This record gives sequence, structure tokens and C-alpha cells, in this order.
Amino acid sequence: MSPSAITPEPTFTVTPMKKTAEEKHDFGATVTGLDLNEISDADVKALSNLIWTHKLLVVKGQQELEPIKQWELVTRFDPTAPKVHSHGSVKTFNKEGGLLSKARDVYGIPGAENVRLVGKGYQGPDHYGLKEITVKKPLSHDWHCKPQAEGEFEAGNTRFQRWHIDAPLYARDPAYFTTLRCIKRPTEPQVNIRWDDGSGLEMKSEPGLTAFFSNVQTYELMSEEEKKIADHSWVEYAPHPYMWMGNCRGLTTGLGVATEGREKKLEELGDYDPKSVKTYPMVWVNPVTGEKAFMVHGICARKLFLRSSPDETPVVVEDVGEIRAFLKTIQERVLKPEYIMLPKVEEGDIIMWANWQTFHTAVDYPDSWGPRTMHQANIGASTSPVGPVPIPVAV
Ligand SMILES: [Fe+2]
Repeated sequence: MSPSAITPEPTFTVTPMKKTAEEKHDFGATVTGLDLNEISDADVKALSNLIWTHKLLVVKGQQELEPIKQWELVTRFDPTAPKVHSHGSVKTFNKEGGLLSKARDVYGIPGAENVRLVGKGYQGPDHYGLKEITVKKPLSHDWHCKPQAEGEFEAGNTRFQRWHIDAPLYARDPAYFTTLRCIKRPTEPQVNIRWDDGSGLEMKSEPGLTAFFSNVQTYELMSEEEKKIADHSWVEYAPHPYMWMGNCRGLTTGLGVATEGREKKLEELGDYDPKSVKTYPMVWVNPVTGEKAFMVHGICARKLFLRSSPDETPVVVEDVGEIRAFLKTIQERVLKPEYIMLPKVEEGDIIMWANWQTFHTAVDYPDSWGPRTMHQANIGASTSPVGPVPIPVAV
């Protein structure tokens, strides 16, 4: 732990998560003894450093958290950021969200619009002012390129929905952290998550949890030659990326999309501001620990600029099939049960993760198992991700 990560001393308790002998993931901690309705500036700072250090925290016992306090906490993590959710207002999200808004209903909590209700099913007569809401568009598995066989999903066999970072990748920068409070979810029976890619891999989980892997570990699994390229290279994302790839279909593992010529042409995207197009380093350096994470959101990547040293002219890869093949060989190494964590979040717990260091995904379960209610909030960051080597473009 770096010195900045342990100063100031928090008033709450942090316990690193236990893992079994088979598990190789190396992140996550549990926080107890903290009331997020009444948190001091010193504890906000400590919490922030701990999220960077552990990549993921489960803060226990926040049943009484007021939605506006969740939003205030998010803004206190990044006080100079514009005070808006990283995906903009609910109206903008529903208009420009492309794949993201097509796939799910999202509601702002009245009086705390940047706190988003995500989940599925009936949310009760009055959910923090949202009356008689039934979330009708839960996560859809129909976006995978090969559907599950008839009856498999209802029997509890499921898939990772879509591995991602919470990032608009256009106009606003990705949030440092995302916060997600669990208000309601079923806890049984278990789902069986299948890769369905010929590997035969599968893992079990309680329903309604979120899966994570660490891209610091993705980076550690790369060869020295690959690391050298990644350290010096960068990615250009599509304008309005989720509209651009909105008709694409996901691979069965949820990691990456199939190359089927379904991307929109730029002229089909309507007006866009070239200055809002995002170009980021391939590797993002953790500002607290200095760790390197391989952070390429492949489904939105339109160009790769590859080089192995600062002075080299980069090779530009514009073929999306080539881009995806390059990323797949690197990113799927970590996509193994032993590197994936599904932190057990109980009702009232709030999970907070370093969005600049990890990938996450929802895992759907049959509607008949009961409703799910989560409050999600993050804020577009005040700074852009920084790579280990300066890249010759403004970010
Ligand atoms: Fe997400």
C-alpha cells in the first residue's frame, strides 16, 4: 500500500476479502462501521484511497442511505467534476445511449436524478417517489450472437451479459468509481454462468450479483513484449460509440462483440463533435498505487495506434475484426473462473469499484425468481486516464 493510501487513518474497519485456494483474483475488501449518511471529509478521502488500492469495496449496512447522500458522496470523491452522471441526464441517456438504453429501462430517483434505479420487475407502490414502477426491459440476453437453447435460461443457466467499464467514451471522461447499492435481490437458487464458447467453462453464483475482474491482472498476464506495446499505444473510440455499435451482437462470454458488419457508418450517426471523440492510452496508471491496468473497451474501439517505443511511428489498425482479434487474445486470459469475483452483496450493502482498473458485468436470472432493485451512481471524472508513457494526442 502506498503512503497516500493509508493517510488519513479511517474511522471505519477494512477487511480484505477472503479467497479459496483455487481463486486467483487479488482485489476486494469489506468495510464495516461506516454510516454514509454522515461521513467526514477525512473518511471520504480514506474511502477513495481504499477503492483505488483494493479496486472494490463492499460497504456493509447502508439500508438507511438517502439517495441524495449517495450522489453527494459520489461528488465528494471528485469535487471538481461537473455535477452530472457520467452518462448524462436520463433524457440524454435514453436518446443517445444506443446499445445501453436499448437494453434496459433506467429511471432517475426523484430529487436525486443522478442516482439511477436499475434492476428488474415490480418496484413497489412507491420507490423513493417512483410510483408503481415495473422495470420491463431488464438486461436482455438477446444481444448475444448465439442465443441460448430454448428453456436453458429459465432453468437457471445464464451468461455474463457484457463486460465493460462505465464509460461514455465520448464527451465525458469515465468515472473513477461507480457506486451501486443493493436494495433488493433474490438470493436463491444459484445461477449457472456458462461461457458457451467451446471451453466448457462455467461457474455458479447467487442471482442478481455483479461480476468483476481486475485489469491489473489482465496486464500481469501479458508477455513482456505485449506490455511494451500496450504501454506505448493508444485507442481511438468511435463517435457516439454505443450508437455506432448499437446493432452489434456480443460474444457468448460477454467479452467483446462479433464482427458481422453491423457497425453504423459515421454519416449515419448524425452530427458529432470531433473534439468530443475520445482517445485514451491502452494502459491506465492507478493514481494511488501506480499499478498498470490494460483498459481497452474493445466493443467501442474504432482505431488502434500500436507502437513499442516513444519515437516510433504507430501502426494504425482500422479493421474492427483485427482490433477485436488483437484484444481478444489478451483479454480472455483473465476471463477464467479463478480470476472472476462475484462479491456477495446483501440488501443494504453498497459496492464501490475502481472503474479505471476493472471490468464488470451484470448476470441475468429468470424474472420469476423475483425483482431486483439497485441504485447506481457515478460522475464523469474531472481528469482523463493517464498512461505510463505520454501519447502524442490530447486526451
Ligand atoms: Fe456498468
